[in-house]
Amino acid sequence: MTRPLRIAVAGLGTVGAGTLQLLQANAAVIAARCGRSLEVCAVSARDRAKDRGVDLGAAVWFDDPAAMAAKADVDVVVELIGGAEGAARKTVEAALARKAHVVTANKALLAHHGVALAKAAEAAGLTLGYEAAVAGGIPIIKALREGLGGNTIRRITGILNGTCNYILSTMRATGRDFADVLKEAQDLGYAEADPAFDIDGTDAAHKLAILTSVAFGTQVDIKSVHVEGIRHISSLDIQYAEEFGYRIKLLGLAERDEKSGGIVQRVYPCLIKPDVPLARVEGVFNAVVAEGDFVGKSVYEGRGAGAGPTASAVVADLMDIAAGRRVPTFGIPATALKVLATVPVDQHVGEYYVRLRVVDRPGVFADIAGAFRDEDVSMESVLQRGRSEKSNVNVVIITHETQESNLLRALKRLQANAALLEPPHMMRIEDLA
Ligand code: NAP
Ligand code: HSE
Repeated sequence: MTRPLRIAVAGLGTVGAGTLQLLQANAAVIAARCGRSLEVCAVSARDRAKDRGVDLGAAVWFDDPAAMAAKADVDVVVELIGGAEGAARKTVEAALARKAHVVTANKALLAHHGVALAKAAEAAGLTLGYEAAVAGGIPIIKALREGLGGNTIRRITGILNGTCNYILSTMRATGRDFADVLKEAQDLGYAEADPAFDIDGTDAAHKLAILTSVAFGTQVDIKSVHVEGIRHISSLDIQYAEEFGYRIKLLGLAERDEKSGGIVQRVYPCLIKPDVPLARVEGVFNAVVAEGDFVGKSVYEGRGAGAGPTASAVVADLMDIAAGRRVPTFGIPATALKVLATVPVDQHVGEYYVRLRVVDRPGVFADIAGAFRDEDVSMESVLQRGRSEKSNVNVVIITHETQESNLLRALKRLQANAALLEPPHMMRIEDLA
């Protein structure tokens, strides 16, 4: 058998400890499949005294992960610290500089520095593996880059953040409030160190930017992703959506715009019909629908966060390195990745959900109808509950297909109306049939 693949692991939190556990539990099957064993020779984290719940064996401890990456006698450095800058970036750059392969679960790092890091890795003949960075345990990078490699991809749609999907589906199923369910997702190890990255859509945007690059051969371009999170979604919106026959999901969508030749990259909560595959994806599960010109639609589903699923993806990358399987980081050489113009979100055309909390008095509905009429936005359904004790009501509107810029102008007119008690709540309705 070839000599073991020597590995250094930086970060021993949820994913780091999970990776060590997997490597130990399945050492024999992994070695059989790679033709060599995988050996963790060095580790680094902040607190040496912390019990990680896993045997660190004879691995050499480093307080400084970048020093470990620069000095430890290893073939691969696994970065499981997190964050686009700081210790994570220094560790990865140090590893590539001394010609060690890199495996990371860090989507923030890839979204911000993916092209530069891929260029450095490819120039040195090294692998930069990041399967764990997108959709947890789903092998979506391999699926898109290799399994669907013969297709022109038309569209990618996905539930890319386990924490948000856990929150939305638990709120819908139990009626519990947002903050309570977020705390539970944090306790389960799903959320980012700063959960604002999850609930504000940033984490899903990082993942979408990476998927877009692999699917469309473009440079990872996080700045062009339109991002909205789920902070503002209340149980009320979830209930109203149900009444109109929809579910609310935080989706990432990327597609080529045939008309302009540009690219659409958007993350936002939206309403989808309950009978499409993504609507049935609940809890911490993620799913990605890839549409290719020859394969048609294919759906990938699995746990999107947590120690086990993420470790599974980290180890898959390590096994590719051990077995000598290597493809360009984003599917084509990093130097050949294209830059495409972004299609602004106000050019989006579709149906919309709008909720307006207004004073309950005569004439208010006429004002709403007038603003919509003046901006050429047609209403498909309207719901207004009976008079409330607090003399304010929610008016919920589903529009016919319209351009977003028209709806935004109508809502702007209404914001000047004293009867409106809070800014309008607006979500897109995505037709995923
Ligand atoms: P975590 O539980 O917070 O673990 C982070 C680890 O990094 C800890 O062991 C911490 O050390 C160590 N660390 C932080 N700063 C350090 C520094 N300056 N020097 C040395 N070590 C440092 O995070 P995680 O959930 O495992 O996530 C790790 C990465 O995986 C992130 O990029 C995350 O986005 C990604 N990811 C996470 C999941 C998930 O479900 N959790 C899924 C997919 C991808 P101490 O333990 O000593 O504090
Ligand atoms: N915080 C992320 C999520 C971890 O909830 O999806 C997996 O990337």
